[in-house]
Amino acid sequence: MCGIMGIINKKGMAIKKVIEGLERLEYRGYDSCGIAYLTNNKIETVKTKGRVKDLKELIDTDIKSDIAIGHTRWATHGVASTINAHPHTVGDITLVHNGIIENYLELKEILISKGYQFKSTTDTEIACALIDFYYQENKDIKKAIISFMDKVKGSYAIVLLCKDIKDKIFVIKKDSPLVIGVNTDTVFVASDIPTILSECNDYYLLNDLEWASISSSEITFYSNKGEEQVKERQTFKDGNFTYSKDKYDHFMLKEIMEQQDTLSNLINYYIEDNKYLDLIDISKYKRIDIVACGSAYHAGLVGKYLFEEEANIETQVYLASEYRYKKNFLDENSLVIFISQSGETADTLACLKKIKETKAKSLGIINVENSSISIAVDEVIYTKSGSEIAVATTKAYTSQIAVLALLTLSSLAKHNKSYDIDKIINELKNIKDDVKKVLDDKDKYKSIAKKIIASKKIFFLGRSIDYAIMREGDLKLKEITYLSSECYAAGELKHGPISLIDKDTLVIAGNTNKILYEKTESNLSEVVARGANIILVTNKGKANSNTIVIPERSSFISPILEVIPLQLISYYTGVFLERDIDKPRNLAKSVTVE
Ligand code: F6R
Repeated sequence: MCGIMGIINKKGMAIKKVIEGLERLEYRGYDSCGIAYLTNNKIETVKTKGRVKDLKELIDTDIKSDIAIGHTRWATHGVASTINAHPHTVGDITLVHNGIIENYLELKEILISKGYQFKSTTDTEIACALIDFYYQENKDIKKAIISFMDKVKGSYAIVLLCKDIKDKIFVIKKDSPLVIGVNTDTVFVASDIPTILSECNDYYLLNDLEWASISSSEITFYSNKGEEQVKERQTFKDGNFTYSKDKYDHFMLKEIMEQQDTLSNLINYYIEDNKYLDLIDISKYKRIDIVACGSAYHAGLVGKYLFEEEANIETQVYLASEYRYKKNFLDENSLVIFISQSGETADTLACLKKIKETKAKSLGIINVENSSISIAVDEVIYTKSGSEIAVATTKAYTSQIAVLALLTLSSLAKHNKSYDIDKIINELKNIKDDVKKVLDDKDKYKSIAKKIIASKKIFFLGRSIDYAIMREGDLKLKEITYLSSECYAAGELKHGPISLIDKDTLVIAGNTNKILYEKTESNLSEVVARGANIILVTNKGKANSNTIVIPERSSFISPILEVIPLQLISYYTGVFLERDIDKPRNLAKSVTVE
């Protein structure tokens, strides 16, 4: 999704710093980019369709400038093009924007009737014109921003330059992320904390419906009514973010390989001194809803399995985009768990805001510290997997499962004295070795990737917890390879989709669940009888070129071991197909629009 970067730097380095920031924002996914900077008392704008490296070719980064703003755009209103790229300038105002102006068509008509003309098809240019319109009334930027916030509907993080004010940038926020970082000679404005973490230690967070006026020596915060706000300067605690691929060709591979450490560090942290017992007691609640999007939703499906089958706690899992418009049945006995790597996903955040109107308790399982969801929930558990740069999530997803497993274990230890907790703890303690074993089988994963490429149709099948994991495998393959694949609960196949199965079909199946082992085997025999080839991920029997055998473990660990081969198979398929692995087309890391 769109990324924002703004800088005030007294040493004339603003252009260079903004470009560096845009490079760090690239992981969010984008299709065009641009920069506006102040030089010789004039605001210059350079923008282009394509990557930051294309933008760099159009700019002399040695030009001295103290103030610059930049943007990576992920197209929503209007195609990816240079004209639609940000910054936009209308009259005296130049700005970049992340979010969606919902009433932009209505505003456009009003502005056209006032004489404004538009070059782009974006909602952002309308926002820019609206601020300019109010600014021209009496050349008061404060009044213009307040009137804008009053009139506009939707979500926005805006960073703005005004032609007449040469020493300040202004930022405005509602429902889109924005952070202000400070060090001795520079103020940074960015869409997320990781982008500025290498540059500064202290930061301020704006709440929704707040804005700020920023000069090199002073930051003043205001409400949407213009009242000054007192804000606490905060200090980054987590220095765990890095932007290096190390020896790997892609961030995705690095992040897959890192799982042996991310998982064992997270789990050992909670096991040491029995800290897992301090986690929220899920069994206290009569209703548990898990709400998330994409892979985080798939982690939620694994959580449902663990809560229900192991801890006997009924649980519902919902896609955030559905939950936000659905009637809820929440009261003081309800717990709503929000799972999100970024902590900024618009739909998940909107659900959290909605349930805040009820008496339900909210718990966040979040990777990025101080992200919007992590701040707004009643309680947060961090997944501690460090920076995840590849758009397709891997290590953050398995850490989400690990946290759900620890919550289950915590409940069992408190309420089910007959449960063999020590056996699970021992398994958890050995997770590093188990993960290493499944990571090591690279040649096999490469040869399966070639079989995928040679097949006309790909199906993922599994039952119960295997189905949850196959859904994640299916999503990974789609994201990274752009191949079409289908995922079904194995028992559902004969109710329709089996008509698609023939000799050109490759079926990737999970079969690790003792209770359902034979049932899944029968379903697989049905597809073999129709000519399909099978790649099996199981914890029984002998491995061969089409069978991946993972260590036989409880359902606290097994789903993690089952998904890792699928991550690597998708990765190698994408590599063989020469896809843009870390930044797959059309995708964004942090989905901050609905
Ligand atoms: C898939 C992927 C997405 C995210 C989804 C939610 O690889 O990364 O499906 O899982 O967009 O994002 P977060 O977890 O940031 O809320």
